[in-house]
Formats: sequence, structure tokens, C-alpha cells
Amino acid sequence: MAETRIFTVTGGLGFIGKHFVQRLLADGHYVTNVDLVNYAADRRAAAVFNDFDRYRHIQSDISELPYMPECDYLLNFAAESHVDNSIADSRRFCISNFMGTQRLMELVRAKAPDDRPRFVHISTDEVYGEIADGAHTENDMLHPSNPYSATKAAADMLIYGWGRTYGVNYNIIRMSNNYGMHQYPEKLIPKSSGRMLRGLPALLHGQGRYYRNWLHVEDSVDAILTVIEKGQPNTIYNVNGNYEILNIDVVRKIAAIIGVPEDRAYKLVDDRVGQDIRYSLDSSRLQALGWEPQRNFDTELPKIIEATDYHRFI
Ligand SMILES: NC(=O)c1ccc[n+]([C@@H]2O[C@H](COP(=O)([O-])OP(=O)(O)OC[C@H]3O[C@@H](n4cnc5c(N)ncnc54)[C@H](O)[C@@H]3O)[C@@H](O)[C@H]2O)c1
Repeated sequence: MAETRIFTVTGGLGFIGKHFVQRLLADGHYVTNVDLVNYAADRRAAAVFNDFDRYRHIQSDISELPYMPECDYLLNFAAESHVDNSIADSRRFCISNFMGTQRLMELVRAKAPDDRPRFVHISTDEVYGEIADGAHTENDMLHPSNPYSATKAAADMLIYGWGRTYGVNYNIIRMSNNYGMHQYPEKLIPKSSGRMLRGLPALLHGQGRYYRNWLHVEDSVDAILTVIEKGQPNTIYNVNGNYEILNIDVVRKIAAIIGVPEDRAYKLVDDRVGQDIRYSLDSSRLQALGWEPQRNFDTELPKIIEATDYHRFI
């Protein structure tokens, strides 16, 4: 994007949001980051961003945001994002993921049509539910399987309604599993590598027999910028990674990099309820705009493990 733009980003201290904010600041844009700073927020990223005059942080729950900052684009990353937490207690998921989206849509539609920011909402492959073979297209029905994906699907539905009823201009971007530098250590890669580096086995649900599709977070950032620059209004874009693999094989790769023998690399634990066997997205709509995933899982994984930092999120 050649011209300087003003962005409001929500959840910009979370894993994907902070990589997006970092790119925007590097490219000379202005960023207002609305982030309530929950357990997954990266305080070290906050310190780096605060050095930019073009950055400001509003510490607020998006579901209670009192006003929409002046901006050209509104990017909604803010969410409770961990499935296990949603199974334990879904209340915060309903508030942040569903009511938070409702609040943002209301703030956008309250503005005069010509003064509204373009609303870009970050969603997930999990809203479609599992698929044994093939890949979901953007026209497929939503079949979420757990409270996290149910609240994400519900938010997507709200957006359709605000688009049709109030003419709010939106894009929904549904992405597969992201990996990259400095992810909160509740997710598979940082949790497993952190445990192995501490001499503990990784913990695997369901015998590790779940397939996930991995998308590098910088490829996600490229995908979002592609949608902003070239996407059609009121259109959904799927973003699939270029690497599908069983969870047990991810953990084996981590063990090989760290040098942990297979018999000490993992422990099989009780299955999660509502677990989906496989997700897969058809991203041909986005690829037609010129986006392709660029990063290679096997090249990136050692760098990510090398950068594992236990204290970052404490
Ligand atoms: N991580 C993935 O693999 C993945 C894949 C597909 C889609 N997504 C979606 O991408 C988005 C970002 O995911 P992530 O992994 O970066 O999440 P994350 O949990 O790492 O970060 C979420 C951030 O949002 C903030 N936040 C949470 N609730 C908030 C609220 N009510 N108001 C303001 N701020 C709030 C948190 O403080 C945190 O900084 C989410 O919407 C998620 O559903 C993630």
C-alpha cells in the first residue's frame, strides 16, 4: 500500500495482531490498537510499539468500546482464541468474540456511510467444522464443533446481518492454523517445544491423529494486506497454509530439532471433547488476487524453536 493510512486494529498485542501491527508500523502507517491486554497479550511487543509516534494503545474491551477511533480500516483480531479454554468456560468467548463484534459493527454503522472505515474481520477455518477429504469453499455452511468456533461462526453471521441491513462494508478472512515467532505457549508448537526444552514430554490429544493445516503468520499478514488492497467488498476469503500434517508428526519434528528421542518426546493424554479430525480450506479466491503462501514449515520451525522465550508472556 503506497499511501499512508490510518488503521484501528483490535487485539494487536495478540499473536497474529502484533505481527500485523509490526508490518503496518514498518510500512509507515498510523495504528490505534484496541487491546484489553489479556493473558495472551505480548507486553514486550507493546513496549516496542510504544516507541512509535504513529502508534497508540487504547486498553479497552471491544465489547465496551465507547467510540470508534478515526480510521480508514478497522481490523478485528481481538478474540478469546484457545479451544480448551472455551470448553472449560465459554463466557469470555461469548463476550469478546460475539458481543465484541456486535459492538464494533454498531460503532461502524453509527457513522455516516462515507465516513465508515472498511471493516475486516479475522475468522477461522474452524467455523466450517471438520472435513474428511477435499477443502471448504467460502460458500459452504458453517458447522462449528466447540464453543470457540461457535462464537466465531456467530460473529461471522452478525457481520452478514450488518452488511445487508445497514450497508456496512466488510471482509471476513477465514484462516487455518497460524504458526510463527512468539506465539503464546498454550498452542501446539510453542507449548510442545517449551515442554521439551524443559525436559518434559509434549502432551498429545487423540493419539496425535488430527490433521492441521499450517499457515505462517507472515503469510497471514500478506493475505490480509492482499484483501485490503484487492479484495471485493462484502466478500469472504479463505486462507489456507501450504503444509498439512498430523499433530504427532509436528511434535516429532520438534523433538528431532531439539534432540529429544521419540520415547521421551510426547505423552498421549485424554481426548478433547468436540475435537475435529481435519480442517482444510480452498483459498483459490484469494490466490486469484495474487496471494500465495511463501514460507516453508521445515525452514521456519527451527527458527521458532530457537526463539522460544518462557518469560515473554509472564
Ligand atoms: N492463531 C490461530 O492459529 C488463528 C487461526 C485462525 C483464526 N484466528 C483468529 O485470529 C484472531 C487472532 O488470534 P490470535 O491467535 O492472535 O489470538 P491471541 O489469543 O494470541 O490474541 C488475542 C488478543 O486479543 C486481545 N483481546 C481478547 N479479547 C479482547 C477484547 N474483548 N477486547 C479487546 N482485546 C481483546 C487479547 O488481549 C490478545 O492480545 C482471532 O480472532 C482468532 O480467532 C487465529
